[in-house]
Amino acid sequence: MSSETPAGTQRGVAAEEFRRACGRFGTGIAIASVVDDNGTPHGLTISSFTSVSLDPPLVLICLGHAVTSIDTFRKARFFGLSLLRDDQREISDRFARKGEARFEGIAWRRGETGVPLLNGVLAEMECAVERRIEAGDHDILIGKLVAAKTHPGEPLIHYAGRYRSLVPKP
Ligand SMILES: Cc1cc2nc3c(=O)[nH]c(=O)nc-3n(C[C@H](O)[C@H](O)[C@H](O)COP(=O)(O)O)c2cc1C
Repeated sequence: MSSETPAGTQRGVAAEEFRRACGRFGTGIAIASVVDDNGTPHGLTISSFTSVSLDPPLVLICLGHAVTSIDTFRKARFFGLSLLRDDQREISDRFARKGEARFEGIAWRRGETGVPLLNGVLAEMECAVERRIEAGDHDILIGKLVAAKTHPGEPLIHYAGRYRSLVPKP
């Protein structure tokens, strides 16, 4: 652990407490996506999506420095967001698993800005990168919405380390 880490967070339990406390904030789940110079799509599961501003329309996502595609996101002019429906847990798992050919065998397309967008999702957004801020072991990417579409359905929820649905089980 780095000597720059504040003393209070050096206790082994702190990371677990942090995760547990943050996990009490229920979120939706999105696939953040980007295309590299060769046109190859990259993406990962995120829960760190937040709307930031209405005018101009800004959102943010947080990406860990260890994310395989972090350099592609850092260089990109645009990134995409596909907000998952409650029947898309497998897609969430697939985009969070190491070494998976994530876009193979699933329905996706390129949006107006060229970013990969998944089909059958609850909402899709295309964002122009406005700012990137390094914060601890993550980068905060602030994006300006340049295109957005919504579709009917129920959201996939992540809460306390588990997937949930808003629809009560029969
Ligand atoms: C529900 C859920 C939410 C996640 N949220 C984020 C997130 O907001 N930011 C992030 O960098 N990783 C997040 N992850 C972890 C990445 O999806 C995972 O580490 C992925 O493997 C990273 O991509 P890589 O394998 O290409 O490095 C999340 C994973 C899950 C299952």
